Amino acid sequence: MEECLGSVVAIDEPKKDHFLLTLRVPESFSAPLPGQFVMLRQTPSSTAEVNGFSLPRPFSVYDFTAGSLMILFRRVGKVTSWMAHLSPGEALFIRGPLGNHFPPPTGKKNIMVFAGGIGVAPMHFFTKYFRKENIRVFVGAKTDGELLLHDTFCEICNEVKIATDDGSYGRCGLVTDFLPTSMEPKTVIYACGPKSMLQSLSMMIPAEVDCHVSLEERMACGIGACLGCAVEIWTVAGEKTIRSVCKDGPVFPLKNVVWENK
Ligand SMILES: Cc1cc2nc3c(=O)[nH]c(=O)nc-3n(C[C@H](O)[C@H](O)[C@H](O)COP(=O)(O)OP(=O)(O)OC[C@H]3O[C@@H](n4cnc5c(N)ncnc54)[C@H](O)[C@@H]3O)c2cc1C
Ligand code: FES
Repeated sequence: MEECLGSVVAIDEPKKDHFLLTLRVPESFSAPLPGQFVMLRQTPSSTAEVNGFSLPRPFSVYDFTAGSLMILFRRVGKVTSWMAHLSPGEALFIRGPLGNHFPPPTGKKNIMVFAGGIGVAPMHFFTKYFRKENIRVFVGAKTDGELLLHDTFCEICNEVKIATDDGSYGRCGLVTDFLPTSMEPKTVIYACGPKSMLQSLSMMIPAEVDCHVSLEERMACGIGACLGCAVEIWTVAGEKTIRSVCKDGPVFPLKNVVWENK
């Protein structure tokens, strides 16, 4: 997968330490599917400083229209702090789209999306891409200050429910509290969020219910070469095997993921 050069069209900070980056990409950039991601890295001409050498970093596609790629990111460390200081016109290297994608909800009647924290980014692209389907979205955040995309989801789908850990917006508690105790046939669930959220879903969702999750392991190469993003997966024979999140994922059936302490 070759890298291309993208240039910053706009960068906004809708919530403190959360940024929406719009990049112009070449016509040759393939249209991504929901769940896919890109690796971003600085060019030698970058004016903003990354403190020392840094490897590319993975980011889910938040939105895409021909020639324009959008990324929603949270400032957590070295590279995301550099990205927060990008300005319009600056160039950066983009590799992608990478990885697999969420299977479409074809033939499903009860479609639920669970998004926690910055996990809203790929779930936004999914929900927008399949907006003609009747999707219910459940968004969780620690506090109202970290709650993202509530209004945006409300514009795309009919039912959006919010939970915050401290009750500062929506229901007080975890987003997984919205999961119904019994699920009608033809249910499919899609999710991205912190490991704890996905692990809770794995304990709450019966194995016969279709559920697909996007995992966000740390990555170095992004193309299956370094094993830096290895996760344990159950095979059909009930044995554990190793898969790379970047090449075999990031989307996996929830029931196939091996969770620690489960
Ligand atoms: C497939 C995929 C899609 C992703 N999509 C997004 C996205 O859309 N928006 C977004 O903001 N982030 C996303 N991430 C996470 C993002 O890649 C990291 O936040 C980023 O690499 C951090 O780089 P940094 O140099 O700023 O942080 P570093 O300086 O490298 O690390 C700072 C802190 O963040 C922690 N950290 C770094 N990477 C991760 C990770 N993957 N998971 C949990 N903790 C981590 C480190 O342990 C450390 O505590 C995604 C990750 C993957 C694998
Ligand atoms: S990041 Fe290198 S194998 Fe996945």
